[in-house]
Amino acid sequence: MGKQRVLSGVQPTGTLHLGNYLGAIRNWVEDQNQYDNYFFIADLHAITVPHDPGQLADQTYALAALYLACGLDLEHTTIFVQSHISAHAELAWLFNCITPLNWLERMIQFKEKALKQGENVSIGLLDYPVLQAADILLYQADLVPVGEDQKQHLELTRDIAARLNFQYGSETHPILKLPEPLIRKEGARIMSLTDGTNKMSKSDPSEQSRITLLDTPDEIRNKIKRCKTDPVRGLSFDDPERPECQNLLTLYQLMSGQSKAAVAKECTDMGWGQFKPLLIEVMIEGLRPIQDRYTEWMTQKQELAAVLQKGKDKADAIASDTLGKVKDALGYSHPL
Ligand code: AMP
Ligand code: TRP
Repeated sequence: MGKQRVLSGVQPTGTLHLGNYLGAIRNWVEDQNQYDNYFFIADLHAITVPHDPGQLADQTYALAALYLACGLDLEHTTIFVQSHISAHAELAWLFNCITPLNWLERMIQFKEKALKQGENVSIGLLDYPVLQAADILLYQADLVPVGEDQKQHLELTRDIAARLNFQYGSETHPILKLPEPLIRKEGARIMSLTDGTNKMSKSDPSEQSRITLLDTPDEIRNKIKRCKTDPVRGLSFDDPERPECQNLLTLYQLMSGQSKAAVAKECTDMGWGQFKPLLIEVMIEGLRPIQDRYTEWMTQKQELAAVLQKGKDKADAIASDTLGKVKDALGYSHPL
């Protein structure tokens, strides 16, 4: 049997933060040699809220460079740009016509983002999860590694696939494969540095709330020094009344690569004054190699473009094949 196929993506909006890294990309990297991997840059998703056309292409390249800098290995992984493959938008349209409107109106992320947009909510923002379903189902992916906040979108993806299979396929010959979400327990929901009850997010207006993968050592030091803590002495993972403490210990655990038990033991009697310098150190050291590789890739734009071109060719063949199957099932005619 061949390897299972893994697919995921991130939007090229703003610099990736530790939530994106620990919730998603680190997991893509860790298991990549067990799977046949497709990781893409979700630039069609990036215009569902107002965007700057002068920056979109640069941010797309920068995200590709960051994927590679985080350790994606081209021997196991295909990297491509969503908008380079027209099947994404085309399949999303076909799915639009079989997806009940009320499935989308229920989406938590839509409600949250729509609130932030005020009057300016596009149909694209509502339709975003349908495009995401197309992204995934085009590749007949087995597994989709994401953070906790994407779980509902993955459920919707399965519902759309099941509906299409039911309405237009047969039980013995399903058209689309139902994917499984891959959500790790640890790191699935990294919280803001200014409020441990809110997730770390690119769209938080406060820079202080997140550490990005490209923050300098000084920025990291300042953010950790000023981050929200509590007046309790002794640090533990398990006190639900101390969300900041849980979050900072989780960051320390994941960035230092230790087990939860080892960190719990090491930190049990510590105060914040003792803990914070350790956290600062593992963060600076953990991000340094990623930042070095990123800088190097950013000086090699031609190579980067070639990686994306190769990725496009490989991904396009699979995507076109699936799109063809869906169009056949829906009864479309073929040109001569
Ligand atoms: P986005 O920034 O919305 O494009 O998210 C890209 C990936 O990062 C998705 O798989 C998200 O689930 C994941 N992600 C975003 N924010 C967090 C967070 N605070 N904690 C864990 N994972 C996250
Ligand atoms: N919606 C995802 C996010 O904001 C990004 C995304 C788009 C995605 N298409 C996808 C993730 C397909 C996984 C699979 O994080």
